Amino acid sequence: MKEIAIITGANSGLGFETALEFAKKGITIIMACRNIQKATDAKNSILLQVKDAQLDIIKIDLSSLSSVREFVKTFREKYQKLNYLINNAGVMWPEYSKTVDGFENQMGSNYLGHFLLTSLLLDLMPDSSDSRVVTLSSLAHKWGKGVINFDDIHWEKKYSKTDAYAQSKLACLMFANELNNRLQEVGKKILSVSAHPGISSTELTRHLKPFQIKLMKYTGIEALVFQSAKRGALPTLMASFDETAKGGEYFGPQGCCEFKGKAGRAKKSKYSQNRENLKKLWTLSESLTKAEYIF
Ligand SMILES: NC(=O)c1ccc[n+]([C@@H]2O[C@H](COP(=O)([O-])OP(=O)(O)OC[C@H]3O[C@@H](n4cnc5c(N)ncnc54)[C@H](OP(=O)(O)O)[C@@H]3O)[C@@H](O)[C@H]2O)c1
Repeated sequence: MKEIAIITGANSGLGFETALEFAKKGITIIMACRNIQKATDAKNSILLQVKDAQLDIIKIDLSSLSSVREFVKTFREKYQKLNYLINNAGVMWPEYSKTVDGFENQMGSNYLGHFLLTSLLLDLMPDSSDSRVVTLSSLAHKWGKGVINFDDIHWEKKYSKTDAYAQSKLACLMFANELNNRLQEVGKKILSVSAHPGISSTELTRHLKPFQIKLMKYTGIEALVFQSAKRGALPTLMASFDETAKGGEYFGPQGCCEFKGKAGRAKKSKYSQNRENLKKLWTLSESLTKAEYIF
């Protein structure tokens, strides 16, 4: 029977490159995207390269808990199992705004939406180490203070777009770690793993000011530091398919400072592995999203 993958944000950047490689393996892909036109363009682009690719678009807006629930309802009506869940979609450094559920946008879209999504799909995953929940984090999980701002989780007192992004990606990594802990505690074989792409050329920089983008281009920073989205997707692919992968592992580029290079095991901050921190974030996330994890 064909394997099935959900890839959030499959229309652009790393998500697109990941979907392309999954398609080459003959895996049925559900492109979980918020913009149907962009998703359709991406689907057509994959079909040009992989003629028999099985690609299904289902709309999701991760900044809305009701949209996440609607996505899962549609998915479950069409499919009976799930082999890979790639929690990839993300937004970086937007001006301050809140989601419809009252969450700071980056925390809501990058993390809390995926926290709920995973809870609603886990029971469809076969109990095997080939079943993978892969969550995208970032080098940024160590940047800023490198901690969860538990006292002001939605940055209502003072917003820093860079710190809020860093927090959201730290939360993603902590989620992957704690999900792995909880799966292992009940003896489940499904792997929860995480990945980061170093610094990759994608549309993630869309909220930068035009002069910042020009600066990166003309000073040569972009050429020096960035790698292609195709290479940036390699850690996600390793997390998804490496047969030696263990639950809780984190994959990223192996070059200088983990900016670029071939994929391998990456370094996590100590904070992201501390069980007390993990449990505290998990409990808060359950209460914010009303997610019910049943293991
Ligand atoms: N590029 C890097 O250097 C880098 C570094 C570290 C981590 N990452 C992580 O890698 C992941 C992929 O980013 P990327 O670099 O490929 O950026 P990208 O090209 O901007 O792609 C982001 C994707 O996420 C989607 N998305 C954003 N908000 C969404 C929402 N509320 N609901 C549904 N989809 C949403 C976007 O949809 P639209 O096209 O409709 O906006 C797009 O498909 C992110 O989690 C990012 O944090 C990237």
